[in-house]
Amino acid sequence: MVKILLAEDDEIMRISVSDKLKKFGYQVDEAPDGLAAKELCNKKMYDVVISDIRMPGLDGLELLQHVLKQSPTTDVIIMTAYGSVDDATTCLREGASEYILKPFDMDDLIIRVNRLIDIQKVRARCTILEENCCQEYDKELIGSSMAMQEVYSIIEQAAPTNATILITGESGTGKELAARAIHRRSTRKDKPFVSINCAAIPEGLIESEIFGHERGAFTGADRLHRGKFELADGGTLLLDELADLAAPLQAKLLRVLQESCFERVGGSKTVNVDVRVLGCTSKDLHKEVEVGRFRSDLLYRLQVIPIEMPALRDHPEDIDELCRHFLAEFNHAHGRSVSISAKAVACLKQYSFPGNIRELRNIIERAMVLCRASEVGPGDLPRELNNVEQPDDELNLAQALAKTEYRCLLNALSASQRNRTKAAELLGISRKNLWEKLKAHNIA
Ligand SMILES: Nc1ncnc2c1ncn2[C@@H]1O[C@H](COP(=O)(O)OP(=O)(O)OP(=O)(O)O)[C@@H](O)[C@H]1O
Ligand SMILES: [Mg+2]
Repeated sequence: MVKILLAEDDEIMRISVSDKLKKFGYQVDEAPDGLAAKELCNKKMYDVVISDIRMPGLDGLELLQHVLKQSPTTDVIIMTAYGSVDDATTCLREGASEYILKPFDMDDLIIRVNRLIDIQKVRARCTILEENCCQEYDKELIGSSMAMQEVYSIIEQAAPTNATILITGESGTGKELAARAIHRRSTRKDKPFVSINCAAIPEGLIESEIFGHERGAFTGADRLHRGKFELADGGTLLLDELADLAAPLQAKLLRVLQESCFERVGGSKTVNVDVRVLGCTSKDLHKEVEVGRFRSDLLYRLQVIPIEMPALRDHPEDIDELCRHFLAEFNHAHGRSVSISAKAVACLKQYSFPGNIRELRNIIERAMVLCRASEVGPGDLPRELNNVEQPDDELNLAQALAKTEYRCLLNALSASQRNRTKAAELLGISRKNLWEKLKAHNIA
């Protein structure tokens, strides 16, 4: 229930405002002066404080300062008479959310209170969403293998500089995690980290997403829109799936990297920014340059410092540690205390993980959710993994064929970067046939 504190020395006024608020379902505490209000604030958290500006003892401004010190998320509405509008503006400067001139219409006050409560709800949701999004990615990279140590060492050295870094590696190897780790270790860590997935946004929209547009730049552009470069000003911009950037944008990006300035779509005014650019891609950019899909000058400008994230099959020694890490994470999330058997870990170590660490993480989560015992065993792992434990399967032709088919599908998807047309080509089957097989094997 929304809690409101009403501080007003005029009794009639206090009672009528309080009655109206209560009628709207708000819980209202009343204080006849500033000191009484201050005491109530020390005991209880209020969503909104509505205070008269002139009160004996402690006035509205002093109460406001006290409330905001105690609870910065509380909204304070100051009630003021015509003569004290200047004081009211001082209150706004000090952090009051609104002021309302006496005498006022009660409905007007209710509208203002409702609006503040709505904004509080949105703010609370944003915080939760922000925390949830960050949780998955504000984690550190796990793994102590030589391959990972090399990655850490480049990150430690390069992060504090302003150098552009190109992070490559197969899907699910932790490229985005690495990018965020770099930002956290840079002098820009308190400034925004903004990321944009160049492959996920339609070609017609991407330029305005990255560089923004002026009002009237195209039909429907009814207001100025700031792009990711402006949002990231002072901080870091991650261009994810960078290989998919169209040629004209590659040219524009090259210019920002060289001159730190650009024009919004439909504009002639030059915008200057201070942004550190990180790029991620699972494609081989040198090959893309060879076939003419990517500018060589841009590639050289981007890969001032290259980081190659290793495929999980190249550092299987990290599987133990990663398993323990993901188990702890999901135990915490699902309120459980499941462990994993040595046999299950052995099965995992024999697997090739075309989806890399993301696939391992998904396998662990799925196994934990499905497992009824307190320990994940080989039987809780996907079929193609626990086969290692059951060589008898090899005697069943249908099962062996299905297993091989499954593996071929995953390998083709991995080799084609999940491009289905290409995967079907590699497998020598039609797209429709591929689609049916993916469905039969439950591969998303
Ligand atoms: N070294 C690691 N330690 C812990 N978790 C990791 C590690 N690498 C990846 N992950 C986890 O695997 C998942 C995929 O990571 P991320 O999104 O960074 O990969 P990616 O290389 O950007 O993949 P894609 O190319 O598909 O975008 C995330 O849930 C991430 O937390
Ligand atoms: Mg990624």
